[in-house]
Order: sequence, then C-alpha cells, then structure tokens
Amino acid sequence: MNKLSPVPYGSVFFAPMEGITEESFRKVILKLYPEWDYVATDFLRVPSAGRYPVKHLLQHIGLSHYEIPWVMAKTMYQILTSHTAFTTQMVLDVQDLGIPWIDINLGCPSTQVCKNKGGSFLLQDIPRLTGLIRDIRKTFRGRFTAKTRIGYTDTSNFLDVIRMLNDEGVEMITVHGRTKEMMYREPARWEFIAEAVKVSRVPIIGNGDIWQTSDIDRMLKETGCHGVMVARGALKLPWMAQDYRQGFHHNDDQRRIVKMKEFFREYREELERGNISMRGLLKQSKSVSRNMLDGIENGEPIRRKLLLSQTVPEFYDNLETI
Ligand SMILES: Cc1cc2nc3c(=O)[nH]c(=O)nc-3n(C[C@H](O)[C@H](O)[C@H](O)COP(=O)(O)O)c2cc1C
Repeated sequence: MNKLSPVPYGSVFFAPMEGITEESFRKVILKLYPEWDYVATDFLRVPSAGRYPVKHLLQHIGLSHYEIPWVMAKTMYQILTSHTAFTTQMVLDVQDLGIPWIDINLGCPSTQVCKNKGGSFLLQDIPRLTGLIRDIRKTFRGRFTAKTRIGYTDTSNFLDVIRMLNDEGVEMITVHGRTKEMMYREPARWEFIAEAVKVSRVPIIGNGDIWQTSDIDRMLKETGCHGVMVARGALKLPWMAQDYRQGFHHNDDQRRIVKMKEFFREYREELERGNISMRGLLKQSKSVSRNMLDGIENGEPIRRKLLLSQTVPEFYDNLETI
C-alpha cells in the first residue's frame, strides 16, 4: 500500500453524510469542484457477525473510484463500529483491497446507532475505546483517522479522548464542536476545537457551522486548526471550496440558482450512468436538493415543489423553471 502524503495545512474537506455522499455524488463534486481537497464516504457499519463480500466493501467507496489512485488518496473510507462487531476482520479486508485510508466514526448521534453502542456512544468509556482504537491501529497499515464530537452528554472527558487518540497512533482527528446531546442544535463550540489543537500532536480538523466561504478562514484563525470540514454548508453551496480558493465571497440568489442547475445537470447524468432505478434517482435528487435552497428568497415554495415531484422528469422540469 502506498503511503499517503500528509494532509496540507488549510485543507478543506467535504464531510461524510449518510444518504448523500455516495459514489455518484462524490464523483460530481470531484469533477465540478476539484478544489475540495478531500471527500469522504458515509459510514459503513462493521458487521456484528461474519464478513462483507468484497463487492460490498468496494461499492462503499465506489467501483469507478476504486484503483484511481488520486481519488483513493482524496477519500476517507469511514467505518462505524462497536465493541462487539468484527472490526479487525473488516479492517483487514479493507486493507487487502488496498484502500489507503480508514476513518472511524465516533460522532454519530442517531438513536439506533447509539442503541447498538456505536458512533458517539463509544466516547463514554475511554478505556474500552482505547482497546478498539489500538486493535485497528495494530491491524491497519494505511492512514487511520477519527471523527469525533466533543462528548456524549457532556464535555468532561473530551481532552482525554483527544490525548488517547494521539497516544494510540491515530493520525488526524476531526472535531465536530457539539456533544451527542446537542445533536445539531445550538452553535458549534469552536472553543473546544481550539482546546483540542492545544493538546494534540496530530492535525485537528475543525467541523461545525461553516456556512459561507469566509467562515473557513475564521475557523482556521480562531481555533488554530489544521483544516476544516464542511457538511450542511457544503450541501447549500457545493462549490464553496472553489469560491474559497478563488477568493469569491458573494453568492447572491441568482448565482446560486445558476450553479445549482449546473450541479444537478451533472448529477442526473452521473446517476443515470450508474444504472440507478428511476425511483432511486428521484430519491437521491430530492435528498441532495433539500439544503440547496436554504436562505434563497422564496426558496421554500420551490423546495416544496421539488420535494413533491412524483417523477424524475417532473423534478428536473421544476428545477429548470426556477
Ligand atoms: C444528512 C447528514 C448525514 C451525516 N452523516 C454522517 C456520516 O455518515 N458520518 C459522519 O461522520 N458524520 C455525518 N454527519 C455529520 C457531519 O459530517 C458533520 O459532522 C455535522 O453535520 C456538522 O457539520 P456542519 O455544521 O458543517 O453541518 C452527517 C450530517 C448530516 C447533516
């Protein structure tokens, strides 16, 4: 396995998002806006028994992305696990496929995931989490990173988690500045990202409430983090990294609508190339469109029209008439 080069200072990440950042979506992002330095798969659950077939592991990164070295090097392969899952076996299987980068999800707040003792649930018991992290580190020769929240119900052990991840050989840590309890409410607590930077020897990637290009520099400056990760803001402005690199800061409604149409033309073509059913195409298009009209004048009725579309042609006709 080729060693990945270090993540440069100031890198901008398109965040993992379940139901959104599948192969076709990532492909369009990398094609239209290559200024995103890194992208991520959403999480793949480690099986609680047995092994996934190779095809399933490959589909998670995307068959068309697999073996394109520059794409693989730009893509975090995220896994979600618990203490009872078959983590070491899956990590070995992923490694055997030559996938160079695994990220462990320590942040998912969903009730179902926490009921199964995965995601943010793991943050509650550092000694047990240490064993899990150690096992993955011992097994995986590629880049191993973690994405965490600042705590489960409170932030009392946050810095201990950061120290432990450092000590156990995790190579980079993304910090979403909210506890599990906060879900997505309240402003993200960037001051905790700054605290993590102070105690961490490995790069900290800041995440939470980056809504416009100017927030990127603000987070880098205010927290001292090494790079930033954008989720919902990147659904609203998928071209945010491009604007950022080009020093462009004014997304008026007119421009957003033109760029949104440009994005969806490419996305539809890409989904169609991927042999998706019409139902799947409609579902994906709706999911991705959900945040793109945020803040646009009269965006709400347009969003409703898009989400109520019954067929793919209806969705795309509605889009073109905006
Ligand atoms: C629809 C959606 C799906 C998400 N799925 C994942 C996921 O699969 N893995 C993960 O680590 N975080 C996931 N997240 C969390 C985001 O990556 C990010 O940490 C969070 O939204 C905060 O960043 P933001 O304020 O820029 O949105 C998801 C968030 C959203 C909105």
